[in-house]
Amino acid sequence: MIATMDFNSRPLPRASHPRLIFCFLLLISSCSPSWASPPSFRDFLETAREPQFFDWLRAFRRQIHQHPELTFEEFKTSEMIRSELDALGIKYTWPVAGTGIVAAIGSGTGPFFGLRADMDALPMQELVDWEYKSKVSGKMHACGHDAHVTMLLGAAKLLQHQKTTLKGTVKLTFQPAEEGFGGAFHMLQDGALDDVEAMFAMHVEPSIPTGVVASRPGPIFAASGRFIAIIKGKGGHAAAPHLTVDPVNPASFAIQSLQLLVSRETDPLDSKVVSIGFIKAGEAYNVIPDSVTFGGTFRSMTTEGLLNLASRIKEVIEMQAAAHRCTATVDFMDQDRKPYPATLNDEQMYTHARKVGESLLGEANVWECMPVMAAEDFSFYTQRMPGAMFWLGIRNETLSSVYPLHSPYFFLDEQALPIGAALHASVAVAYLNLNSI
Ligand SMILES: *[C@@H]1O[C@H](CO)[C@@H](O)[C@H](O)[C@H]1NC(C)=O
Repeated sequence: MIATMDFNSRPLPRASHPRLIFCFLLLISSCSPSWASPPSFRDFLETAREPQFFDWLRAFRRQIHQHPELTFEEFKTSEMIRSELDALGIKYTWPVAGTGIVAAIGSGTGPFFGLRADMDALPMQELVDWEYKSKVSGKMHACGHDAHVTMLLGAAKLLQHQKTTLKGTVKLTFQPAEEGFGGAFHMLQDGALDDVEAMFAMHVEPSIPTGVVASRPGPIFAASGRFIAIIKGKGGHAAAPHLTVDPVNPASFAIQSLQLLVSRETDPLDSKVVSIGFIKAGEAYNVIPDSVTFGGTFRSMTTEGLLNLASRIKEVIEMQAAAHRCTATVDFMDQDRKPYPATLNDEQMYTHARKVGESLLGEANVWECMPVMAAEDFSFYTQRMPGAMFWLGIRNETLSSVYPLHSPYFFLDEQALPIGAALHASVAVAYLNLNSI
């Protein structure tokens, strides 16, 4: 997951969910809700931890780990998933959004509940020396999407065993391009999830121990965008600045002023970030360049805040340039690289998943966490329907699975795989039980 709404497109209208609200009322009015039937969820966990099941999960994950593919290029990954789905006798729609797959298990009728995994890897070299390290130079599953795919496939297997008892349909969504290119947006555009009424996903997290899951109601991931700015002047000899229009100074003024958007224009209790990641100007000591190019990322805990930042970033850069006789262009690249809205956990979906997690893992192992300024394209689903996203702990000091996401040393405690598979399956089954009429 990384950084990164179409500034021109309005958020999709939120569907109302009378059934969910009704059932939530039921849930809080009864002390021991039958949907929580811990024995069956624990069965999922026990099954997923059986040596044969676990070995299958681990082998699949290692295969994906060794063959990482970047955003929208997840061809082999998609093929490996489809071949496992075929072997399990599970029907699916493919291709969706290029390489994406939507598998369906259950009655074929509503309620329809969505589970989601992302498939893409990162353009970085794995520096962990282990038997199953990435075989593709310069590409690595350093964000755990290999585990996400595996856990969802594990859930498919668990659910398929019980398909005749499912009181509705689970849609298992394997999506491309989470890392900056908004694959989720394209999955929704393709219409494969039109009947899905609520959605759940997990992301592995190395600061949380294996066996623990964590989340919070409301905002959990920031809205995020990026920009590239070019300030144009007129180059010339550095000894005769009056004969040039120097773009370097306005670029410095602009970069300084951008920091004031957070420190002077934002409520101190609100969260925003503007970070400049690169600046390129001239090459020589004694030449004033024609132009300066710089760019960066900007984030806000609200989608509205992101739109506001974007318009101020453009204004500040253009006006600083004009004040110094230069011109400026600011490009938000929202055609190729969709800005991400903020990810909002729906209160009821969050509570639902938390209760299921507690019955599966024990109350002490479901934590409430703070939001982070990272971004997730799961946000596109949460714009359309109630959704909840949880962190899944993978930290184990013995295994050194302690390095952060996107680190070249990132390592995964594979004991988390059966937990993720069982939690996916349990959250879905509990939703169907609760929402079937
Ligand atoms: C960490 O992993 C090792 C090896 O798989 C295992 O024996 C140990 O129980 C794990 N520790 C925790 C705290 O999960």
